[in-house]
Amino acid sequence: MRTWMIGLGVGFGAALAVWTSRKQNSGVYRQSNGEEWAVITGASAGIGAAFARHLAADGYRLLLIARRRERLEHVANELSRRHGVEVEMLQADLTQENDIERAVQVIGELNPLALLVNNAGFGTSGAFVDNTATSQAQMVRLHAEAPIRLTRAALPGMIARRHGAIINVASTAAFYALAGNATYCASKRFLITFSEVLGVELSKQRVAVQALCPGFTRTEFHTSEMFRASGKQLPDIPDFLWMSGEDVVACSLRELGRSTICIPGRLNKLIARLPAVLPSAVIAKAGGKLAGGDNFGM
Ligand SMILES: NC(=O)c1ccc[n+]([C@@H]2O[C@H](COP(=O)([O-])OP(=O)(O)OC[C@H]3O[C@@H](n4cnc5c(N)ncnc54)[C@H](OP(=O)(O)O)[C@@H]3O)[C@@H](O)[C@H]2O)c1
Repeated sequence: MRTWMIGLGVGFGAALAVWTSRKQNSGVYRQSNGEEWAVITGASAGIGAAFARHLAADGYRLLLIARRRERLEHVANELSRRHGVEVEMLQADLTQENDIERAVQVIGELNPLALLVNNAGFGTSGAFVDNTATSQAQMVRLHAEAPIRLTRAALPGMIARRHGAIINVASTAAFYALAGNATYCASKRFLITFSEVLGVELSKQRVAVQALCPGFTRTEFHTSEMFRASGKQLPDIPDFLWMSGEDVVACSLRELGRSTICIPGRLNKLIARLPAVLPSAVIAKAGGKLAGGDNFGM
């Protein structure tokens, strides 16, 4: 009788352990009931537009933020026509104080807000001293200050409902000290640490936080005005290193709530680990070679 009870206890304990670990490992992303809002910055192109398409198909009401109004309209019209969801737009330059503040106000009033994707970003090319201080300071504003302030605006409602998620789009570049990318690497590293600490602080309030770290992704990033400003060009990057925005987004949403750092693609996971095992001089040299002695931005 006693052996039978111990066996039952052990079996129950094992089943509970498996259930608990499955629960911890299961993602938190779900389709919307049509009521919930998702906010995406940098939604007029690339990864942001891919987030918008995925979330609209899953029934989210959308607030799309970027500077180019006609591009936002194009995305908004397509999504409301195709999926019948409500799509609002906010034309805003998130390097500008007034525009950040307008976005903060609008986000604070969205109810219920389920997801904030801090995605807007840009890269520059060339060494730090060859870029203007203004462009680098604007990058910090867009990659760090705007996400801080928009996240702060989004959280009270999410915490009150004990439901929500923040996705901060960082980069695999955040794991590197790449010549030609000083501000970019540093500002993307900021997003990882910020997400990790927030994730810890919010773990009991059922708000998930993710630092999404894509590698080379086929978007307008490497042809944008800021990136081309120095006249430098991205060298030939082999096809197998590139991912689509759609695949990056699918990975992000699948992994949401499973772990704070999401690196889409096996190769990118490996690339992100290299700096931890190789001497920094080797990494810097390889980065410089790949970039033809310059920045290559990812
Ligand atoms: N593509 C890659 O290889 C790659 C790799 C790793 C990480 N990332 C990151 O992924 C994110 C999205 O980039 P992407 O690849 O999709 O590039 P993208 O196609 O150039 O899209 C960038 C988006 O950010 C918006 N944006 C840029 N500056 C802005 C500003 N001042 N205010 C508001 N919105 C602004 C752009 O819209 P407007 O021009 O209309 O404002 C656009 O919607 C970025 O944070 C980037 O650092 C990209």
